Amino acid sequence: MGRGSGRGKSILFGEHFVVYGLPALAAGISAETVALVSRSKDLGWRIDDRRPEVPGYKAKKLDEQTVSINNVLRAAGLDMSDKGVFIEYEGDLVCASGFGASAASCVSLARALSDEFGLEFDDDKINEIAFEGEKGYHGTPSGIDNTASTFGGLVWYVRNLDGGAPTFEKLRLRKSIHLTIASTGLTASTTDVVGDVRAKKDQNPSWFHEIAAEYENLVHQARDALLEFNLDRVGELMNKNHELLQNLTVSCKELDKMVEIARENGASGAKLTGTGRGGNMIAIAPDGGIQKRIGDALERNGAPLVYNTTFGL
Ligand code: MEV
Repeated sequence: MGRGSGRGKSILFGEHFVVYGLPALAAGISAETVALVSRSKDLGWRIDDRRPEVPGYKAKKLDEQTVSINNVLRAAGLDMSDKGVFIEYEGDLVCASGFGASAASCVSLARALSDEFGLEFDDDKINEIAFEGEKGYHGTPSGIDNTASTFGGLVWYVRNLDGGAPTFEKLRLRKSIHLTIASTGLTASTTDVVGDVRAKKDQNPSWFHEIAAEYENLVHQARDALLEFNLDRVGELMNKNHELLQNLTVSCKELDKMVEIARENGASGAKLTGTGRGGNMIAIAPDGGIQKRIGDALERNGAPLVYNTTFGL
């Protein structure tokens, strides 16, 4: 039996801006999806998906998952017309919008296939295959999710706007950072929200340019602050990044409320993460006690899913 894993992810800085070639910082979180692949005598593939989920997530993504698995198998060079595989998914990463569940499943599957069929793919190849898998979930992914999921730690990521390979750098922090992720329970379509931002940008290029220029300045400062392990400064910059995303119109009242609760309960900083208009919020905390306080406050205020994790190592 072949086995492989892929981490969940969280975009710390740069959702939406990354689409236009600006740098983003993403973290592979400690929770992961595990794929197990065994050969079966029935041709083609079958799955048993035992990943934990927010109700309805897996059913909703079933068609996209089918396209994605076919993409991964094709990119791995496996012709399923003469073989059969049984794919099992498990692990502690909860399937919910914004946790990188789709990327983690693609990465784990690519690794499990490599293991089962003796393909000896290195991480760059796994990342490349997972990117093909991600296309099954949303048409034009930037590639940041599969990169964070493959490499873990912290990734400085710049998309290549000409369609070539992205530039990315793996960063390691001195220590891990406490991260709380909370879901609004609302699912927004990445394709729709990215499309809407693009339409607004095309309508008013100078409006977009001004916000993007501020972001670009901010993300370089965020990188330095993370490497210096200056959590207060990282937090301040997260707060500022949230404001820029509000200006881009991708926040919503539920996200703004959760950001406020996290800050009131001791977060060094908080912002929306991922697509926005629903999805998730993240907050960083200076220690485990404050992280728990933030998580508890969010739960008390009705957040349907709160996840305390770490990133950076
Ligand atoms: C979605 O997790 C992040 C976006 O920047 C889209 C992308 O990078 O593909 C909104």
